[in-house]
Amino acid sequence: MKRIGMLTSGGDCQALNAAMRGVVKTLFNGKEKVEIYGFLDGYKGLIYGNYRQLSGNDFSGILTKGGTILGSSRTPFKTIQDPDENGLNKVEAMKKNYAKLKLDCLVILGGNGTHKTANLLRQEGLNVVTLPKTIDNDLWGTDMTFGFQSAVNVATDAIDCIHTTAASHGRVFIVEVMGHKVGWLTLNAGMAGGADIILLPEIPYDINKVIKKIEEREKNGSRFTIIAVAEGAISKEDAALSKKEYKKKMTNYQFPSVSYEVAAAIQEKTGREVRVTVPGHTQRGGSPCPYDRVFASRLGAEAGKLIMDGEYGFMVGYKNREIVKVPLEEVAGKLKMVEPDASIVKEAKLLGICFGD
Ligand code: F6P
Repeated sequence: MKRIGMLTSGGDCQALNAAMRGVVKTLFNGKEKVEIYGFLDGYKGLIYGNYRQLSGNDFSGILTKGGTILGSSRTPFKTIQDPDENGLNKVEAMKKNYAKLKLDCLVILGGNGTHKTANLLRQEGLNVVTLPKTIDNDLWGTDMTFGFQSAVNVATDAIDCIHTTAASHGRVFIVEVMGHKVGWLTLNAGMAGGADIILLPEIPYDINKVIKKIEEREKNGSRFTIIAVAEGAISKEDAALSKKEYKKKMTNYQFPSVSYEVAAAIQEKTGREVRVTVPGHTQRGGSPCPYDRVFASRLGAEAGKLIMDGEYGFMVGYKNREIVKVPLEEVAGKLKMVEPDASIVKEAKLLGICFGD
């Protein structure tokens, strides 16, 4: 018999449930008897021994449901080795609970921070298999993470809605898209929504180039401009600052986010009316799109197979249209960013999209 622990950690996303269902269905279809233990609210559940034994029924009807049936939380890797407020050694506590339940493997679903801790647990001798979740699509070792395509759909819908009102009023509209420090979500939603300007963290922008594009569009008879701004977008001036100087700037920062800074600069320099829309966490919410349901199910099935074969220490990822297993030590601590000279960026530029560079 195999005893499997499972947890979802970090910011949630669509298709977490679909992925867990994929793992469990595969295991239940195998020859060996399997018991599943779900840790609640991410690593916290593993640290403090909050878990529930799960049956097949728990995984029934969840393919289409967003969120996570296990709950999630952020447990920063930076402080994972520090004792908690009661002096508890968190890493030792996780090992102890793993041993207490006599687990054969932990299935961990998460993004970047989650993978650092998963790799640490592997180094500490635990059997771990991980699955790549995040709307940011910034995990190293996989071309795609689940949640990403669903979030692209939501962000694109937001831009589509803005398009009609922008056209009526002849305004400049900014839609701020999530993605943390990378621009995958903004780039894809921006292109899908027909944004005229896309600002990404990986391509620092010059506000004068942004304004030039708006003016060009007006000269050519366009009444409005849509700008998709990544929440991590940065100006050329800010990108040139040292870490210390940038930190100082941010301590006196007067804007709720970068989009408002871009809006204020356009307004001030041109007198144009600019509006900002922030879809925020709606991008992580709702039902997974069909692509994500299939993708997460496939990843889950392959994770289940790895466990049945006793192959541990891998993230199940996606490379060149194949599901692959990637050693955890290759994934942990690395960010997958948009390359400024990637073909998708070049193609966007051919379409006339301005990146402010
Ligand atoms: O990593 C997913 C993500 O949604 C990022 O795009 C965003 O920057 C962050 O999480 C928001 O985190 P929180 O939900 O903790 O506010």
